[in-house]
Amino acid sequence: MNLSRATQPKIIAVANQKGGVGKTTTAINLGAALAKAGRRVLLIDLDPQGNASTGLGIEADQRRLTTYDFLIGEALPAECANQTTIDGLTIIPATTDLSSADISLMANEKRSFLLHDALHQPAIDELGLDYILIDCPPSLNILTVNAMVAANTVVVPLQSEFFALEGLSQLMLTVREVRQSANPDLRIEGIVLTMYDQRNNLSQQVEADARDNLGDLVFNTVIPRNVRLSEAPSFALSVFDYDPTSKGAAAYLALASEIMAKEPQSLQRSS
Ligand SMILES: Nc1ncnc2c1ncn2[C@@H]1O[C@H](COP(=O)(O)OP(=O)(O)OP(=O)(O)O)[C@@H](O)[C@H]1O
Ligand SMILES: [Mg+2]
Repeated sequence: MNLSRATQPKIIAVANQKGGVGKTTTAINLGAALAKAGRRVLLIDLDPQGNASTGLGIEADQRRLTTYDFLIGEALPAECANQTTIDGLTIIPATTDLSSADISLMANEKRSFLLHDALHQPAIDELGLDYILIDCPPSLNILTVNAMVAANTVVVPLQSEFFALEGLSQLMLTVREVRQSANPDLRIEGIVLTMYDQRNNLSQQVEADARDNLGDLVFNTVIPRNVRLSEAPSFALSVFDYDPTSKGAAAYLALASEIMAKEPQSLQRSS
């Protein structure tokens, strides 16, 4: 049955200016989990490092039309989007030409709105998407601001280690600024603890602190430290293709379920 999609795709930025906290791992595997649940997902690699593109098997020499072309309006979404090995999951890949410096220098007063405008063009509707996930770079630069201006919500991966909460106030400040200026409806989808080690007191302490301070903003699901999650991208696979029985795969399915639980009824029918 071809369900009519009355609603716009939900746009979720995966952001944290801290490096190596699990943004890309979350973007790839949350995207794959949503696709496994029958959703149509576009992942936008907004990091010049291009890790999400590599992790999903889009080789550098295959990245003909990239996020940069898409942002500057030089290419249509369908031209930039690459099919991945997962049904229902496509990706717009990134290369180093997506440097924030290039975008910052653009003599364009709408430079914070480039991604917003690219994602709100009629050609996006034609893709029939349910979710658009944006993998942000480890910075609060113009690229991450573009993601927050374009997004409905932000997922914040928080590594379960000391100092994890320190950078969060800066991120929250940026969210507040974007809300006050360009995107009043921007919300935090949730904060997800990543690389959680159950046997480690520190992980438990970080979780307790996060839940005390941030309450409902913290997802129930925590992502365990799981070697399968770190091995999968070197085989250019999501964890579901690499080891669907792993704890990492189960955790990202649970995270996707928490997000899908907030969907309008019309979409939930297709689960
Ligand atoms: N739950 C996990 N268990 C084990 N390893 C993980 C987990 N999540 C991420 N990793 C590993 O940690 C490293 C950093 O993860 P990832 O690339 O997802 O972070 P990032 O926030 O996107 O980094 P960057 O800021 O550089 O973009 C990678 O080697 C990844 O494979
Ligand atoms: Mg990354």
